[in-house]
Amino acid sequence: MTVSAIRPGADRTGRTAHGGARSATARAHGKINLHLGVGDAGADGYHQLVTVFAALGCAETVTLTEAAEDSVALTGRYAHAEVPLDGSNLALAAVQAFRERTGWDARVALTIDKQVPVAGGMGGGSADAAAALRAAAALAGFDDRGALHEIAATLGADVPFALRGGVALGRGRGDQLTPVLAQGTQHWVLATSTGALSTPLVYRRLDELRAERGTAAGGRAAGEGGAAAGAGASGTDGFRQLRLAEPTAVLAALASGSVEDLAAAVHNDMTQAAVTLLPDVAHVMEQGERAGALAVLLSGSGPTVGFLAQNATHALELAVLLEASRGVREVVRTTGPARGAHLVE
Ligand code: C5P
Repeated sequence: MTVSAIRPGADRTGRTAHGGARSATARAHGKINLHLGVGDAGADGYHQLVTVFAALGCAETVTLTEAAEDSVALTGRYAHAEVPLDGSNLALAAVQAFRERTGWDARVALTIDKQVPVAGGMGGGSADAAAALRAAAALAGFDDRGALHEIAATLGADVPFALRGGVALGRGRGDQLTPVLAQGTQHWVLATSTGALSTPLVYRRLDELRAERGTAAGGRAAGEGGAAAGAGASGTDGFRQLRLAEPTAVLAALASGSVEDLAAAVHNDMTQAAVTLLPDVAHVMEQGERAGALAVLLSGSGPTVGFLAQNATHALELAVLLEASRGVREVVRTTGPARGAHLVE
C-alpha cells in the first residue's frame, strides 16, 4: 500500500473538463522486440526472456475523466477492432489495479484512441494499460514511480516497458528492465496480417517444436540464435534447459547507431513457431526481403512483421511494395525509438 504517495487535492496535471469533471490524458507507444530470446517456461507458465524492446512511433492515447461509474470508449484507427470494453480491457484493469494499490477511489470514463495495430505483437494493449496508469497517477497526484512499475508488472509482461519507453533490455518475464544506450532513429515499415495469432499459443508451439527437436536432434533448436542449450543440462520434462544468449550484437549496433549492424543482429526466437501456425507470415517476410528491407523481423509473437529501412525514402518504397502482398492487411510506417508513457494536453 503506497497511499502516502498520493497528495490530496494535487491538481498539477488533472485538467478540468466539461461540467467541472477532472480529466487527464496520457500517451504510450507500441514496441518491437529487436531481440527476443525465449527460454523455458516456469511453473507459472511464463517463459524466461532476454529481450531488447524498442518503443515505436505509433501510440495509444488514453483519457481518464472522473465520472459516476467506470466506462470505456474507443476512437481512432483501430477502434473497430475486437477490443473488450468490460473489466478485461487492459486500460480499465490498470485503473482498477491502481485503485487497489493506492486507495484512490474515483470512477472514470476512459477514452482510448487506438493507433497501434491490435493483436499484432506490438504491445498495443500494454500501451493502453501504461497510458491509463500514467493518467490515473496524474489525477490522483501519485508520484511513486517504483510503485507504478510494480502495478504495471501485475498487468502484463510488456506493460512496464510501455511505461518506460525508449530502448531497454528486458529479463525475467520481460518486466525486469535496464535502459539501453541507443543512437539514431530507425525507420520501420510494419505489415499487419490478415490472420491472427494468440500469444500463449505461439509460446506453446515454440515449446512443442523444441520438445520435438529435443528428442529427435537432442540439442540446440536449429535456426535459433537467441537460445543455446545449457551445457549438457536436460530438464525433467524432457526439454533441454536453455541458456539464453546475450543480445550483444544488437546492443553494440544500437550504441554505434549503425542501422546495417542492427539489421544484421536483430533476432526473434518466436519466428518459426509463428510461421508454422500462420504460413502467410513466411510469405510476407519473403516479400519484404525481396523488396530490399535491411532486416525482416517478426514483432513479438506476431503476426505483424517489421521491416527495417535505410531511411524515410526507403521505408516509403518498401511500404508501396508490401502493400499488395498476400497476407498483408495494412502497412504502417513508423520510427523508433519513442518515449515512455507521458501526459499530453
Ligand atoms: O503478460 P502477458 O499477458 O502479455 O502475456 C500473455 C501470454 O503470453 C501469457 O499468458 C503467457 O502465455 C505468454 N508469455 C509467456 N512468457 C512471457 C510473456 C508472456 O509465456 N515471458
